[in-house]
Amino acid sequence: MTSGSTPPAALKGRILSGIQPTGNLHLGNYLGAIRNWSALQKDYECLFCIVDLHAITVWQEPKELIRATREVAAGYIASGIDPVANALFVQSHVPAHAQLAWVFNCVARLGWLNRMTQFKDKAGKNREAASAGLYVYPNLMAADILVYKATHVPVGEDQKQHLELARDIAQKFNNDYGVNLFPLPEPVIRGPGMRVMSLRDGSKKMSKSDPSEFSRLNMTDDADAIAGKVRKATTDPNPLPDSVEGLEGRAEAANLLNIYAALTDQTLEQAVAEQAGQQFSQFKAKLTDTAVTVLGPINAEMKRLMNDPAEIDAVLKRGADKANAIAEPVLAEVYQTVGFLPGIR
Ligand code: TYM
Repeated sequence: MTSGSTPPAALKGRILSGIQPTGNLHLGNYLGAIRNWSALQKDYECLFCIVDLHAITVWQEPKELIRATREVAAGYIASGIDPVANALFVQSHVPAHAQLAWVFNCVARLGWLNRMTQFKDKAGKNREAASAGLYVYPNLMAADILVYKATHVPVGEDQKQHLELARDIAQKFNNDYGVNLFPLPEPVIRGPGMRVMSLRDGSKKMSKSDPSEFSRLNMTDDADAIAGKVRKATTDPNPLPDSVEGLEGRAEAANLLNIYAALTDQTLEQAVAEQAGQQFSQFKAKLTDTAVTVLGPINAEMKRLMNDPAEIDAVLKRGADKANAIAEPVLAEVYQTVGFLPGIR
């Protein structure tokens, strides 16, 4: 880890990604994000954030927010992210995120924010009652990334639009001020299937905010919970098809096979070929075993870590020190570019 504005030359670039500490980590977070981070960590300089500032754009119970923040950190470490080689940290521990976000509030256009589908989804019908923070959420996300001049951002497909906005902000900032300060960060989205859907409704994303616990597999679920949720997962009456085309119009079957493919490191085509003609009962038993094999050790390690909050906090403190060392000079460069009077802080 360097404190300069560029990562060591031997690496392919600098990664920044994050997860909100809202509710439980679930299989979508694992397959869409964390698992990929752990695969990328050897080739990139990595910063992995727990985005508590983003979390409070909707109401969070303060005590629960603290617990969930540590739990996300435990999830990162338990999934194999090296807490020494990479910076694991909490967003609010690095003030430059919020400081740069303010500058970006003045760069991003209302028209851009109005197009953000996540705001529309989260605000729902009662937009007037949504927090202002929820509206400018993507500007803060752009700041998370650009305050490190990150070059690559591994996320699930649902974050693609936010990433495009971050690129637009970087570009507009560079153009407006006639500088080349920010790189345009690239999304890293692994596999087209990496949108894990609800176990209850194959047309809805698996999400922490779904009121039904049966809609998701949590990273903290034990074998019994996993078995119960997979057993209850919505299906249709037909056996599994022998080709990917046969999944057309069968969203739930497609989702379960996608999950199975991801957990077994196969392509969807391979998973479909393997399970062709199976009844759901047989396939669900196989899927349960696979999910327990993958999530079991992660789950056990998360529990161990959660019993030792001091260990987690020490990792996060070290991570914040590393992150601050990179972010502060970038923020200083931005402030100078914008024309803020220097030297009085
Ligand atoms: P969040 O907390 O909703 O999700 C964290 C990560 O998990 C991925 N993910 C999924 N992937 C596949 N299928 C799903 N059902 C699924 N649900 C979640 C997300 O794509 C994400 O990668 N705005 C971000 C947090 C954020 C961030 C950032 C990410 C804030 N600043 C800077 C990257 C860089 C979010 O709400 O993620």
